[in-house]
Amino acid sequence: MADKQGTLYGLGVGPGDPELITLKALKILQAVPVVFAAGSTKNDYSLALNVVERHLPPGTEIQKLGFPMSDDQAVLQAAWRDNARQVLAVLASGRDAAFVTIGDPLTYSTYAYLLRTLKEMAPQTLVQTVPGVTAYHAAAARLNLPLVESKQSLLVVSGVSDPAEIPRLAACGDTVVIMKTYRNFDRILDALEELPGRRRTYSVSQCGLPGERIQEDASSLRGQKMPYLSLVIVKDSPED
Ligand SMILES: C[S@@+](CC[C@H](N)C(=O)[O-])C[C@H]1O[C@@H](n2cnc3c(N)ncnc32)[C@H](O)[C@@H]1O
Repeated sequence: MADKQGTLYGLGVGPGDPELITLKALKILQAVPVVFAAGSTKNDYSLALNVVERHLPPGTEIQKLGFPMSDDQAVLQAAWRDNARQVLAVLASGRDAAFVTIGDPLTYSTYAYLLRTLKEMAPQTLVQTVPGVTAYHAAAARLNLPLVESKQSLLVVSGVSDPAEIPRLAACGDTVVIMKTYRNFDRILDALEELPGRRRTYSVSQCGLPGERIQEDASSLRGQKMPYLSLVIVKDSPED
């Protein structure tokens, strides 16, 4: 073990547009010798790595961490512990490392699992988190759409949970962001139709990436297979 432990930097690299990475994340990426990227255990592709690869100095070591898509807690825990061990081995050698993740690292990110497992296994680990532009902030910017003003509130929900819950949840916010709409898209549209009052629904897919699609009336996409990188913004429109 080295005299000095390395630091882990958890970097949000923005939702895909390579210019939406922060200067802070960029500086760290250009200084660390090792970069960790999450991939599904089914394929090796990492969008976060794809976004940052052009910024990495030659010789940067890249290590992939596998995050299985599973509901089995034992499988998940075992993978998270393996990943944490892989990171701890690098830090114990005295090297700093970055974990790159799409959007913001503390918003629906595998980074949360890594952070939690590191805290359990090695609470003294030096960790610094760098926020990133979330997908919904980038989507709102593409739409030139204010998310909330004055006394309004914003609710962020996962479209993977039961869409029947959406009307109840939506009553809690003036603007609702539904992330991960790819799996239940039509059921989400059904639920949105039940909402009282006038609402506008915007769908944004592949924001800032090839194949970007922006639709100001999400219901016009009914029946279509939505890409993984898709979200919906629902906004009160009392002025209509
Ligand atoms: C695992 S979450 C990652 C969220 C990310 N950490 C963030 O802060 O935006 C994946 C979901 O984020 C949304 N997302 C991420 N990047 C996106 C993009 N470029 N365009 C549209 N939606 C995106 C989609 O809802 C996708 O299903």
